[in-house]
Amino acid sequence: MSNSDTLPLVVLISGSGSNLQALIDAVERSDIRGEIRAVISNQADAFGLQRAQRSGIPTEVIDHRHFDNRQNFDHALRQRIESYQAELVVLAGFMRILTEEMIQTFNGRMLNIHPSLLPRFRGLHTHQRALEAGDKMHGCSVHFVTDELDGGPLIIQARVPILPDDDPDTLAARVLTKEHIIYPLSVQWFCEGRLLLREGIVYKDGEPLSGPIRLEDTVAM
Ligand code: GRF
Repeated sequence: MSNSDTLPLVVLISGSGSNLQALIDAVERSDIRGEIRAVISNQADAFGLQRAQRSGIPTEVIDHRHFDNRQNFDHALRQRIESYQAELVVLAGFMRILTEEMIQTFNGRMLNIHPSLLPRFRGLHTHQRALEAGDKMHGCSVHFVTDELDGGPLIIQARVPILPDDDPDTLAARVLTKEHIIYPLSVQWFCEGRLLLREGIVYKDGEPLSGPIRLEDTVAM
């Protein structure tokens, strides 16, 4: 379904796509006034592709291994995203570093979710690292994508406790339940025009954020 009230979205994935599923569900409930025009994966066997197909969403595979370099891969990816007239690009477990050109093209129109309380634990293996650091709390963050890896302006975070018996898998599962709340919420806000990035500052409902919104503080925001 497409009408002038829905924002065209493209979601990029590499794997399981549980965050994609949360977005699909939120669109189907009409919580998100958006339309997922396509799901693009760099991995042909990403389970998220099946999730999209089940919901009748077009899918594409652009395998980075078929390109000589990052620029050429990103160029092909950008062309495909633009063919859907995407107004927002949602990275949902997309495991490729993007080029400057790609990031500039979608400046202020590209979101990422990261499984840690940024700026703590940028990069990979965040759950293992949080356990090794002896942290008591862990969580996830949604941010606008900039050329700083996992360093773009933060929108919202959610926290979970780290329990004595946790291993990386149990902790990841607890964090994911929060990811599935804060990512659809962020996309919902963006589609409603309530979220804006201007000169490196995030505005929510017209007000600049001095730090990330905490899920715990959002009651019917
Ligand atoms: C999530 O933990 C997300 O934060 C990270 O990659 C994982 C993707 O999981 N960027 P899924 O594919 O959405 O299930």
